[in-house]
Amino acid sequence: MSLPKILLSPPHLSGNEEKYIEQAIKTNWIAPLGPNVDAFERELSQYVGSKGAAVTSSGTAAIHLALELLDVGQGDKVFCSSFTFVASANPILYQGAEPVFIDSEPDTWNMSPHALERALEDAQSDGELPKAVIVVNLYGQSAKMDEIVSLCNQYGVPVVEDAAESLGSEYKGKKSGTFGKFGIYSFNGNKIITTSGGGMLVSDDEEALDRARFLATQAREPALHYEHCHMGYNYRLSNILAGVGRAQLEVLDDRVAARRRIFERYVDALADIPGIELMPELEGTLSNRWLTTFTIDPDVSPVKTDKIIQEMGERNIESRPLWKPLHLQPLFKGARFYPHEEDNVVSEQLFASGLCLPSGSSMSDEDQDRVIDAIKNSVRKQLASFVTS
Ligand SMILES: Cc1ncc(COP(=O)(O)O)c(C=O)c1O
Repeated sequence: MSLPKILLSPPHLSGNEEKYIEQAIKTNWIAPLGPNVDAFERELSQYVGSKGAAVTSSGTAAIHLALELLDVGQGDKVFCSSFTFVASANPILYQGAEPVFIDSEPDTWNMSPHALERALEDAQSDGELPKAVIVVNLYGQSAKMDEIVSLCNQYGVPVVEDAAESLGSEYKGKKSGTFGKFGIYSFNGNKIITTSGGGMLVSDDEEALDRARFLATQAREPALHYEHCHMGYNYRLSNILAGVGRAQLEVLDDRVAARRRIFERYVDALADIPGIELMPELEGTLSNRWLTTFTIDPDVSPVKTDKIIQEMGERNIESRPLWKPLHLQPLFKGARFYPHEEDNVVSEQLFASGLCLPSGSSMSDEDQDRVIDAIKNSVRKQLASFVTS
């Protein structure tokens, strides 16, 4: 009989969810509005330190609303991190706009200010500055926000911070997701806290957030009958799920501590693998370590991470390659891309040599030991076959 499956990042309930769900049911607040929706928005904005928040049915919906609020339309350009999940960039396509992808840099694996600067210079000389820059904080690590925000301010381009994976993380003492005109979070089932599916748009512009709520409820005008002057969306979150979010938010700091502890155990156990580099944590930042990730330097070791993934799969352990850069995705064929340096494409190197490990905050030490054992075994076997071949 095989051992139970170890997942990458399963949901971890706090025990308080039922209390909020029961309240919602007892009071018949089952609609996508109600006391939990209002309270979840208030509590999350207090936690991250933004003036307000608008809850949505997904993180993708929150990005879409941000682009709509920034008036991104047909033919406009939007810059976006290349090294990310497709959800960061799909809303650019929803708007009929054109993505331009920006490479990563080695210190954070996130958007390279160096590449961004060249892209902005070119856009200015073409007379076509982007309508927005979507900067993503992957696996919990904040991008170099000082440099990125200062460049965008210099060119007057608004920043949308995709903090889907970095809720609870910090950059210079300030919560991740609060550095741009808009920030977004995801409460998808695999995130550090979850509502099963859901998202949040945050901003200091409360008028814009009111407009987001309007657009997210089919752009219904204030009238007795149903009056519509604009195209809208059905993007709000149920009051039941917002209740789940409230219970999850209560334990967010514990979840960050648990994932950081898991990361530290991996570091201790795996440090002696030749060529291994765990995802760095930039000085002055605190990563929620949503997923522990590492690369193996191909110049130092012949060990292949896809073989490790395969062997972990055989032991019923889920692991994944790092995100495939969006400029390599067939969906975005022909899109413009700015590498970190002309002959140094950081996101492609990361994709070719890295993987994500099971990192759920409910993972037991025994399960983590199973993961560590599987990795070490694969590395040992690969090195032995290399020596004998
Ligand atoms: C970086 C990133 N951006 C956006 C999203 C989209 O969030 P959602 O799944 O809630 O739409 C996710 C996760 O799913 C993500 O990892």
